[in-house]
Amino acid sequence: MARVIPEPPWWTSAVVYQVYPRSFADSDGDGIGDLPGVRSKLDHLADLGVDVLWLSPVYRSPQDDNGYDISDYRDIDPAFGTLADVDGLLADAHARGIKVVMDLVVNHTSDEHPWFVESRSSTVNPKRDWYWWRDTREGPAGPEPTDWQSYFSGPTWEHDPTTDQWYLHLYSRKQPDLNWENPEVRAAVHDMMRWWLDRGVDGFRMDVINMISKDVGPDGALPDGADGFLFGPRLHEFLTEMHREVFAGRDAELITVGEMPGVTVEQARLVTDPARAELDMVFQFEHVGLDHDGDKWHARPLRLTDLKASFGRWQAGLADVGWNSLYWDNHDQPRAVSRFGDDSPAHRRDSATCLATLLHGHRGTPYVYQGEELGMANSTWGSIRDFRDIETLNHFAEATAAGADPEDVLATLRPASRDNARTPVQWDATEHAGFTTGTPWIAVNPDHVAWNAAAQRDDPHSVLAHHRALIALRHASRTVQLGDFTMLLPDHEDVYAYTRSLDGETLLVVCNVSTTPYALADLLPQAVGAEVVLANREHLPDHDDAVLGPWDARVLRLG
Ligand code: GLC
Repeated sequence: MARVIPEPPWWTSAVVYQVYPRSFADSDGDGIGDLPGVRSKLDHLADLGVDVLWLSPVYRSPQDDNGYDISDYRDIDPAFGTLADVDGLLADAHARGIKVVMDLVVNHTSDEHPWFVESRSSTVNPKRDWYWWRDTREGPAGPEPTDWQSYFSGPTWEHDPTTDQWYLHLYSRKQPDLNWENPEVRAAVHDMMRWWLDRGVDGFRMDVINMISKDVGPDGALPDGADGFLFGPRLHEFLTEMHREVFAGRDAELITVGEMPGVTVEQARLVTDPARAELDMVFQFEHVGLDHDGDKWHARPLRLTDLKASFGRWQAGLADVGWNSLYWDNHDQPRAVSRFGDDSPAHRRDSATCLATLLHGHRGTPYVYQGEELGMANSTWGSIRDFRDIETLNHFAEATAAGADPEDVLATLRPASRDNARTPVQWDATEHAGFTTGTPWIAVNPDHVAWNAAAQRDDPHSVLAHHRALIALRHASRTVQLGDFTMLLPDHEDVYAYTRSLDGETLLVVCNVSTTPYALADLLPQAVGAEVVLANREHLPDHDDAVLGPWDARVLRLG
């Protein structure tokens, strides 16, 4: 008897679009993007064909880290709108068949969250144990309870004079870490999550969710070394419990994705194994770590062979169990076209479409970050006053205080700062790119005059049109959704090629990640004469079927 293969979950054929609301569209002229702005642009998403909108945080927040510091999980920051605006967005998105995923930031809250305000008020407050409070430790590293270094520069501990103890913050001092060891904390988070699901949201993107379990000794001591706060011993238990308390019974319609810096293939397999009922997929960081030496401010050139080895291992590792998410860009990464492509006028369109093809052909759920579908690039930055991001500003302050030449520090910040992802979406060629009628909170990239949605909408060869085609292909092709993945040419330094196969069909994806032309017959004889499913340079005068031109990308049907 034929084996009955269960219908795969809906998100195996879906594409997600991330909106960073502050920079997406401003409806009221205050220079900050907002929820009515997002609502007004839903047709752009529908036209692109995406299935899910992931909304970066819009909750009430002092905005120390642009909303990743939440002071009320059940209200909307006035800068973004109201709860009624969320309800309206949900209704409008659902009417277009687009699901909405909220960002869930529960490793930490804002220090202005009432939970923390109570917690810090006295050592006997009932919420004291909702956060990590420790005594001074006169150790070799100083008075801090551990030697941990914050992601936003400096120690992870802040001394609080009220009670003469230290509290933990893996990010800024305005983002104290919640203590997930405390069952009341977990119950409060679960309750809040159910509240949002009941309101109609379709899932969560979980911020740094692999940090919620810390490695606590029997006496409550925390170990030195960064391993103490990544993948703590109770992570799987906490995720399973969350699934049981929040998602069980309704998970078929939902999508969950956990952001996990440092996650390995083996850990991701466990987290995304459906039998374990934890999360649907995770964001891993290996590929976006290949162009620096471990410290994001120390760049080195990407070797394509390293990228293939990395993606290849993730594809193989999650082939039979689990699921990948696929991304180049998000609000924390510089723009891929500038970083891995070539944003010079001659190659920008071709390299943006090439990188997109390379990524979207893999097995997994692709994520498109606002503006990526337009080929938006890194911006031009003058002095430190042009930047807004706390990570960037703190790094500048720390490095210059330690004696570094400010010009040298700026030179490292310009290509690497998260602000490159946060310049306003370029809707048209007008003064502020159609983003706002006021003064934008961060300067619009001057290149918006040429690179914008209005200019691309009706151009069949635009970066936008190419994304539309890639998304349509994923929807139409079960081979793209579910086919087996085989990496080809693993040692080639310029050409990235792989096949996807299912039920007798084989698609070949071949991308020239360089400006050196290559004869197809030399590299992949099986590709010569194959049917073209999708290509990025076929219409150009210098196109030659037999030659992979600069940044040439093709999806071919082999049989
Ligand atoms: C995640 C977010 C990032 C934020 C950090 C702290 O990495 O993507 O933007 O700064 O967590 O919440």
